[in-house]
Amino acid sequence: ARIKEVEFVKSSGRAKDCPKDDRPEFAILGRSNVGKSSLLNSLVRKKEVALTSKKPGKTQLINHFLVNKSWYIVDLPGYGFARASQAARMDWSSFTKGYFSNRDTLVAVLLLIDASVPPQKIDFDCSNWLGRNNIPVTFVFTKCDKMKMGKGKRPDENIKEFQELIRKNYRQHPPWIMTSSVTGLGRDELLLHMSQLRNY
Ligand code: GTP
Ligand code: MG
Repeated sequence: ARIKEVEFVKSSGRAKDCPKDDRPEFAILGRSNVGKSSLLNSLVRKKEVALTSKKPGKTQLINHFLVNKSWYIVDLPGYGFARASQAARMDWSSFTKGYFSNRDTLVAVLLLIDASVPPQKIDFDCSNWLGRNNIPVTFVFTKCDKMKMGKGKRPDENIKEFQELIRKNYRQHPPWIMTSSVTGLGRDELLLHMSQLRNY
């Protein structure tokens, strides 16, 4: 499961501009600011191979990275950015859905869920959309390093709540992993999981 090298391949504004789908591919999906780009950096142990920001809406294009010259990991723009214009939001859904309908080599979507906040409707909508389209998903809970702050709940309580809500929608619960890009929690587990999925 070791990552020896990672190479940025290209940014694409449209699904049809993506690199040829001739290798196993994982897509990182989730709300704006959930930590998609940070997770990618943490997986490949590079600080800024993917650009991150405190402000939501940083990643605007479909970014392909080639790992060990053999498989792709894709950093996608986030959804649910409240301040994005209606037009930008429409755009998000059309181009992301375009991406999903065009990638025959997609092994799984890593659907990132922020464990530091209570379950969000938009994450269920996304997970249901993936389910309806038979796209395999692994839930990756992010920011698990964040402990109780103010009135908020702890990550493990938020995760439990999310799991209970999701359970009704699946005959078999999809795989899930707790992570933190700050502490590296879950990194090895996720890499192992991805290598197992690639070999099926
Ligand atoms: P968009 O590209 O805007 O969709 O966002 P993104 O999902 O790529 O998020 P990004 O990786 O840019 O991270 C957003 C913010 O969350 C940054 O300030 C990160 O430092 C922070 N962050 C990401 N992962 C973690 C984590 O595991 N723990 C903590 N505490 N902060 C994190
Ligand atoms: Mg990003």
